Amino acid sequence: MQLYFLGRMFRFSLIVIAILIAAGIILFPYIENIAILMAALFFVYFAFMLVLYYMIEIYIKPMTKITKTVDQLLEGNYHARTQGVIKGKVGELSDKINQLARHLSEITLQEQIQSEQLSTVIENSESGLVLIDEKGYIHLVNRKFASMFGKEVKDYIGYLYYDVIDNEQMQTTVQETFLSGQRVKDVVTMDGDGPKKYYEIIAAPIFNELNMLKGIVLVIYDITELKQVETMRKDFVANVSHELKTPVTSIRGFAETLLDGAHEDVETRKHFLEIIFKESKRIQHLIEDLLILSKMEKDEPQMVITEVHLDHLLEEMMPMFKQRAEEKHIQLEVRNDKVVFEADEDKVKQILLNLFTNAVNYTPENGKVAITLKQVDEFALIEVKDTGIGIEKEALPRIFERFYRVDKDRSRMTGGTGLGLAIVKHIVEAHQGKIEVASEVNKGSTFSVYLPLKHPSGT
Ligand SMILES: Nc1ncnc2c1ncn2[C@@H]1O[C@H](COP(=O)(O)OP(=O)(O)OP(=O)(O)O)[C@@H](O)[C@H]1O
Ligand SMILES: [Mg+2]
Repeated sequence: MQLYFLGRMFRFSLIVIAILIAAGIILFPYIENIAILMAALFFVYFAFMLVLYYMIEIYIKPMTKITKTVDQLLEGNYHARTQGVIKGKVGELSDKINQLARHLSEITLQEQIQSEQLSTVIENSESGLVLIDEKGYIHLVNRKFASMFGKEVKDYIGYLYYDVIDNEQMQTTVQETFLSGQRVKDVVTMDGDGPKKYYEIIAAPIFNELNMLKGIVLVIYDITELKQVETMRKDFVANVSHELKTPVTSIRGFAETLLDGAHEDVETRKHFLEIIFKESKRIQHLIEDLLILSKMEKDEPQMVITEVHLDHLLEEMMPMFKQRAEEKHIQLEVRNDKVVFEADEDKVKQILLNLFTNAVNYTPENGKVAITLKQVDEFALIEVKDTGIGIEKEALPRIFERFYRVDKDRSRMTGGTGLGLAIVKHIVEAHQGKIEVASEVNKGSTFSVYLPLKHPSGT
């Protein structure tokens, strides 16, 4: 544009010169006085130069400015504006171009914000996202998707989906969507180096305004945790049913035999009734434990936090502990320091009871059980140590799982259901404490529970 104006100016100057020469030739025969002719020509020249100056100032200079601004706008600099006061029609043009530039920069800013928001959402999404065009080329992959399959975003972009997506099930889902033009939902399993992973895939077709398939968007959710919870729930139901089956079958069997006439013999009747009583106690124990567990497993277990005098609490329980220890000729040692802390008293009792019961149950006759209650730094320590059968190293991480027993038969003999330590763990967690175990096979075990002196939601 600038060149266009310069060209015109050049032509204008040539015309002026031509006019001057023509005027000189025309006027020469009439004006003999060279001085007057020169003055007339100079006057004409001056008049033209004045017009030229006016044109440059009013049109060419502002137009050059406007042209520069338009050039900058074309290059994508939407902050460019024409500067200075420009009057007349060119001024109007300049104002309109400035207005246009402002609109452009607002639109670009909004677009920029929207695209940044969109890419933030895509990049930070907890689901994997993939965009495939109608030819099968991948256009977009978010970080989550790449990390799910241990690759990087650049390993996918620009490639055909079946060349870079290794999972065959996933490829089939994409193919199905291309063929059917319908939304397809599937669950994909992956066996990596670690544990099995489960992904839910939703493949949705994308259509343009002419209803032609333009591609596919894949959304992938990691549902491994959900599957684990589902498996745990199934296992739990299976375990509870299994635990109930044995005593119920036994009760039913002995009751049937009694009904069939065994009740006539006093000795047999007594023996059978004792078994029925023992088995029903077992069911009761299981149900009580399940109830405690289900209460503790709530998101916010109900806790009654009060000031607990640990020494008083143990004194209350000592007669029962002593009796149980004597029954098995187990020597009971106690260190009962005065410890006062904030906790749910009934639940602390439950910890003591479960740990003590285990210590006695898994310690042969004539063994030793030591209970220590003391303060360690900011914690109340409950320690139960025995000289029992101990726990092998491999089993240690699992003893807090529901229904886990190192030796199922042995534990069942003692009436155990494998819920005691799961309950202890939940109680400890609800108090934001910690539990530690040290154990050696045939030497004994030590369970140490640390509960904070001040409960976070304390009185
Ligand atoms: N002091 C211990 N010595 C040796 N093994 C132990 C001890 N405490 C627990 N265990 C092992 O850990 C398993 C789980 O203990 P937990 O208290 O949860 O269940 P349980 O004693 O079998 O049954 P429950 O306590 O529900 O009646 C036990 O079956 C046992 O194998
Ligand atoms: Mg137990």
